[in-house]
Amino acid sequence: MSELYEKYFKKPSIKDARKRKTRTTETIHVKTPLNLKAIGHDKKYKLMTYGCQGNEADSETMRGIIERLGFTETDAETSADIIILNTCAIRENAENRIFGELGRLKQYKRTNPDLILGVAGCMPQEEKVVDKLLKSYPYVDLIFGTHNIHKLPEYLETALYGKERVVEVFSDEGQIVENLPRIRDHLHKAYVNIMYGCDEFCTYCIVPYTRGKERSRDPKHIIDEVNTLAEAGYQEVTLLGQNVNSYGRDFTDKAYRFADLLEDLNKTSLPRLRFTTSHPKDFDEATVKVLAKGGNLMPHIHLPVQSGSDSVLKKMNRKYTKASYLELVKTIYKYIPEASITTDIIVGFPGETEADFEQTLDLVRQSRFEGAFTFVFSAREGTPAAKYADHTDIKTKKARLQTLNQIINDGYLLGNQRFEGKVVNVLVDGVSKNNPEILAGYTEHNKLVNFKGDKTLIGKIVPVQIDEAKTWFLKGTYHESR
Ligand code: 5AD
Ligand code: SF4
Repeated sequence: MSELYEKYFKKPSIKDARKRKTRTTETIHVKTPLNLKAIGHDKKYKLMTYGCQGNEADSETMRGIIERLGFTETDAETSADIIILNTCAIRENAENRIFGELGRLKQYKRTNPDLILGVAGCMPQEEKVVDKLLKSYPYVDLIFGTHNIHKLPEYLETALYGKERVVEVFSDEGQIVENLPRIRDHLHKAYVNIMYGCDEFCTYCIVPYTRGKERSRDPKHIIDEVNTLAEAGYQEVTLLGQNVNSYGRDFTDKAYRFADLLEDLNKTSLPRLRFTTSHPKDFDEATVKVLAKGGNLMPHIHLPVQSGSDSVLKKMNRKYTKASYLELVKTIYKYIPEASITTDIIVGFPGETEADFEQTLDLVRQSRFEGAFTFVFSAREGTPAAKYADHTDIKTKKARLQTLNQIINDGYLLGNQRFEGKVVNVLVDGVSKNNPEILAGYTEHNKLVNFKGDKTLIGKIVPVQIDEAKTWFLKGTYHESR
């Protein structure tokens, strides 16, 4: 280790990340306004975000901190003084893309030797990634993980003015930090974290190691945040957690669970509330019953199943069966007949046979999914499944993915077709990417709608008559008279 590292050098350890049972969670409040030096008053930053909504939410916090330090945002790499990549570790191809991006960004260090290049987020939580960065990417100046975003001011000051390489990744999650500044990506839609981390240890998944122990935020802080957003004119909030259905499981002072939180948030003036992501084993009937009350609770449920084979589910450590998953789907349709259910599925898990895969297809058909994120299994070092014997070749796995996707796409179309001829409420996000005359937004069931309309409708919930259903979107007409 070079002397340069001495101030901050701290690498993660997957072994330490596992030792979490005895830890309790403390909440700390950062004083606002933060007493920060304007170290970036004449400088520019670029922040690149990869992966899930959890990372998008973290990037909003990073942006809040960085701008409080006086930096202004730029899109142009040539004029940036700092470039930070907020990374994703969920699958190997996500990581490869990011390593490729770092290779590309190296050129800007030649034209601007003072450029600070940073890697943040989930990848640095993996020991092997930090080792690789230290060995093969010497031009990366700043490495920090998911648990120490609040320390960004001192890291940036050290990297910029101390000219020291900063490497600090915590293996344990520490406290919940409230009150960090945040600059949100959207003006009318917001993410609200209700919990951090994950305690499930599905055998394929790296998240419990990169995001730490499950910690629920105090309901009061969540409700206050949602009320503040509603008062500021926000139309939609998505509650975030790796397994929102286990919210409150870690409270030692109260019996307050996800259904209670939804019930309380249902009483706020916020027009639309969503949540992601759910775990079937913890999705209780109480939650379904609250959702059935409607109001601001949207009728779309993302319910990752991963596989329809009991033996694969067991090896994945998912703790439910095909039958119990189908039972839950039935309960959802019983209380919310119009519900739209989407899912995540992994094909080619080690040992998955053709018969196992057929079970997945059967479950998909029975569940009437209206969309899915589908993946080929990716071995993540440090997870149990990475060591499981895997005899299926990649060609077979890709063929299974294609077969599955065809059925999933039929579900997308059927899900869209049921709205043909109906008038639906659309929260208008902005203009369509391909045509500035066309507006784009999402229905209560989370269906993308394109329609002609004035830009003044952006940020509003408006009625739209659905004229035609396509697989990936609906075409509609603004229904002014309503
Ligand atoms: N390989 C493939 N897909 C994975 N996912 C999580 N880990 C892996 C992995 N190792 C998928 C799961 C999860 C979604 C976010 O990513 O389907 O629900
Ligand atoms: Fe990963 Fe399973 Fe936790 Fe989801 S519930 S983040 S798949 S370990």
